[in-house]
Amino acid sequence: MNKKKEGVKKLTDDFSEEEKRGFYKAIYSRRDVRSHFTSKPIEDDVLSKILHAAHHAPSVGFSQPWNFILIKDSETKKKIKESFEEEKNHSSQLVEEPKRSKYLSFKLEGILESPVNLCVTYDPTKFGPFVIGRTSIPEAGLYSVCCAIQNLWLSARTEGVGLGWVSILSNKILKDVLSLPGHVVPVAYLCLGYVDDFAEKPDLETAGWLPRLELKDVVFFEKWDDKENETWNNIQELIKDNFDYA
Ligand SMILES: Cc1cc2nc3c(=O)[nH]c(=O)nc-3n(C[C@H](O)[C@H](O)[C@H](O)COP(=O)(O)O)c2cc1C
Repeated sequence: MNKKKEGVKKLTDDFSEEEKRGFYKAIYSRRDVRSHFTSKPIEDDVLSKILHAAHHAPSVGFSQPWNFILIKDSETKKKIKESFEEEKNHSSQLVEEPKRSKYLSFKLEGILESPVNLCVTYDPTKFGPFVIGRTSIPEAGLYSVCCAIQNLWLSARTEGVGLGWVSILSNKILKDVLSLPGHVVPVAYLCLGYVDDFAEKPDLETAGWLPRLELKDVVFFEKWDDKENETWNNIQELIKDNFDYA
């Protein structure tokens, strides 16, 4: 008999309304966090859940080309922070005043303050060289790693753990400091820790650096840049409004 036990939900069942709300809450309340880290350590079972979530991301040809390097050593963190300072100063030369000063005033990492740093890497040799779906678009391997990072980010948010992505870094230094083999690519350097607040909006939006674009301005119909099309009337109207997950 295949009768389901009363009240027991299978993982493959549809989402209840409450579960849907939880899912959208994670998406809409996720933030990139650079400040607000508290000193509370991340419990191992929580960290394990977050890593499991990342590992269940989709990947091209099921190649799972990621690795996760967990870091808490303060000497390692210091070396990475030095690279950040150097790269931040260097990149500030690429923008004119008054934007330069504004850029330099932003807090763009939480390397030392966060209890756990995590480097997510891409290994193109995993299950290779023939990977289903990667023959025409080799970047699909990197895209897969980004899917894992997004899973990780949403899972962290669900667990109340803040995450900040630091890309103002030298990949060469990252590879040296973390002893990565030559063919392995560092994709993301992440700072994780409990936070005392998740901001409502992106920090860069609050600081007036850039606004969030309207959805209706980024959706095209049938062809590039076609923003109006009769067969898509209804959705055109719906995407004008903000989505309310509650
Ligand atoms: C690939 C990538 C690299 C990023 N690098 C940095 C970074 O070096 N420093 C930083 O403060 N934020 C970084 N961010 C965070 C973005 O600034 C942030 O996602 C964006 O402003 C929107 O804010 P939100 O994530 O809170 O919604 C990065 C995000 C992504 C996806």
